[in-house]
Amino acid sequence: MKKFLFAMMLVVLMSCAAFGDDLAGTGINYMVLVNKTHSLPDGWEEMLKTVHITNSVGDDVEVEKKAYEAYLLLKEDLLKNDNIEIELDSARRSVAEQMDIVERFTKKYGPEYTAKTVATPGYSEHHTGLALDLYFRLDGKDIYYNEDMVKYPEIWEKIHAKLAKYGFILRYLEGKDNITGYSYEPWHIRYIDDPELAKKIMESGLTLEEWLNKKTQTLRKVILDTDTAYLNDDAFAIFVLAQADKLGMLDFLGITTTGGNVFLAEATTAALRQLELIGRSDIPVYQGTDEPLAGFRNMIEEAKLY
Ligand code: DAL
Ligand code: ZN
Repeated sequence: MKKFLFAMMLVVLMSCAAFGDDLAGTGINYMVLVNKTHSLPDGWEEMLKTVHITNSVGDDVEVEKKAYEAYLLLKEDLLKNDNIEIELDSARRSVAEQMDIVERFTKKYGPEYTAKTVATPGYSEHHTGLALDLYFRLDGKDIYYNEDMVKYPEIWEKIHAKLAKYGFILRYLEGKDNITGYSYEPWHIRYIDDPELAKKIMESGLTLEEWLNKKTQTLRKVILDTDTAYLNDDAFAIFVLAQADKLGMLDFLGITTTGGNVFLAEATTAALRQLELIGRSDIPVYQGTDEPLAGFRNMIEEAKLY
């Protein structure tokens, strides 16, 4: 039994190593939905790690760390293979910055256009740091304004074809205004930290809203009951279920905890900690009963068996 547990721990540790930065604990849910009806989740800003860069027009742009690393790879690929030079116009925005954009756009384009292209402060995906607005340089000039950028569908097509490879999806699709609430934005891309999943979503032609909705409507729903989750079989089960949930194979509704191998508070802490480690703190944990239905274990008697 001990050998089995040890092997299990090794498997989990190896999975952790393969998971890289995620287990180093960015703690954020890269599949988070922020839109007209979903505001930024509580505690997001405390967990967010960002970098600041200066773009080709001299603006400071703040972006989530992993999204920026992926963006650099996308930029390099497009420059090398398609001769397209992309730049970052805007990524993470505070609520105050979003207010400022609403004001500027209303003055420049009027309220109707603004409502279709700029989110209400507090409800912008840009607050996450995972939404990136691109522009590009052509013959040494910055093609920067919305009305200019839409004149180059062939360039956007080449950019969009490479998004999934680096873990990005296109967020505001053509003809889906009624679902996303916004007009087509070829420049607004969203980092989801998973190239395989990004490929599936891009190929499906669905918006993030539709993808997440489809998942919750049709998939098998799973609740895991656990009595401890420190680097053991329960931790492994949480890891596998969370990954399957992320890949759209099932709907991991939540975790319930009970006293058993350890006391209830420890089981609950372990489940919460395990979810935090794999960046899935969005999965709820419900604390249950302290005493197992079959009563507490007799550890003294059990010790004699092993
Ligand atoms: N342009 C998108 C909708 C935003 O303002 O967040
Ligand atoms: Zn945007």
